[in-house]
Amino acid sequence: MNLNESSPFANSMQQPYHTHASLSIAGKVILITGAYGLIGQTVSISFLDQGAYIILADIDTNKRPEVENVVSARFPEKQFLFQTLDITSEISCANTVNAAVQKFGRLDVLINNAAIDAKFDAEQSAGKHNARFENYPIASLRNSVDVNLIGTIQITQQVCRQMLRQNAGNIINVASTYSLVAPNQTLYNFGDGQQQFKPVDYVASKSFIPNFTRYVATFYAREGIRCNAIVPHAIFNNHETPFLENFARLSPMGRMCDRDELTGPFTFLASDASSYMTGSLLSVDGGWTAW
Ligand SMILES: NC(=O)c1ccc[n+]([C@@H]2O[C@H](COP(=O)([O-])OP(=O)(O)OC[C@H]3O[C@@H](n4cnc5c(N)ncnc54)[C@H](O)[C@@H]3O)[C@@H](O)[C@H]2O)c1
Repeated sequence: MNLNESSPFANSMQQPYHTHASLSIAGKVILITGAYGLIGQTVSISFLDQGAYIILADIDTNKRPEVENVVSARFPEKQFLFQTLDITSEISCANTVNAAVQKFGRLDVLINNAAIDAKFDAEQSAGKHNARFENYPIASLRNSVDVNLIGTIQITQQVCRQMLRQNAGNIINVASTYSLVAPNQTLYNFGDGQQQFKPVDYVASKSFIPNFTRYVATFYAREGIRCNAIVPHAIFNNHETPFLENFARLSPMGRMCDRDELTGPFTFLASDASSYMTGSLLSVDGGWTAW
């Protein structure tokens, strides 16, 4: 049989297709900031299950015992390190990197996940008028910028010093759909006559993530360090019915994200299967930014 020479099958007869690099992250040393939060815990446990060495770093010492109990019941101590980290403190960032390298000898991946993101709980509702743009307190804005922007840069600086010594490294920034588009405030109208708002601090401090990702990616592209961002949206966490109904109406997929639906994309970016990716944004948003 004569195959047309322009056919991909013709090519495969002479030169077999290559397989992709491994999706395995087993043996990789991975630092996750904000590790005691919703996404941080999910990713940490999935990565431990996949055989990675994990540094679980977070500022919240109250949440630590609960997470530590779960992790130490399931995984050997040689596989993890709990580290109290405040990304707004240069010393704390340096100590975290030193502790990681002391225990594991190197640092392969940084996941910049820690952030301040106001929740729509009773506390937030009580201050709902402050959430309007024209009233939003500048002190709260400064606080969010300090953590989400300056803190993210600060821990990345410390990690990059180590990755340069290794001539290798991989950074995954956690962005948000609100790094790309404005919040649709009708999502936060729960039909009780009191419109709530996603405040400007989050949008202001997360909007920098995509361009910071491109900055770091291009800065280090020839020095062995790559940098990409993941763009999650609306992880289900027992939200109430009015929110779920609004969400179903506004989202292309019509449902929130199950936390386990994030672990595949995180694994892909942490693995060598994404080795030619740098400066990219990987959206995991059920189509939220597609219309
Ligand atoms: N949950 C979502 O639906 C969603 C959607 C889009 C993006 N994100 C992003 O995902 C990331 C994680 O979100 P989450 O929902 O798990 O939040 P979360 O509030 O559950 O967890 C954030 C963690 O960061 C920690 N943290 C705060 N300040 C810190 C500091 N100075 N130093 C170190 N740790 C600090 C907190 O203690 C907390 O454990 C954030 O970057 C957020 O912007 C979340």
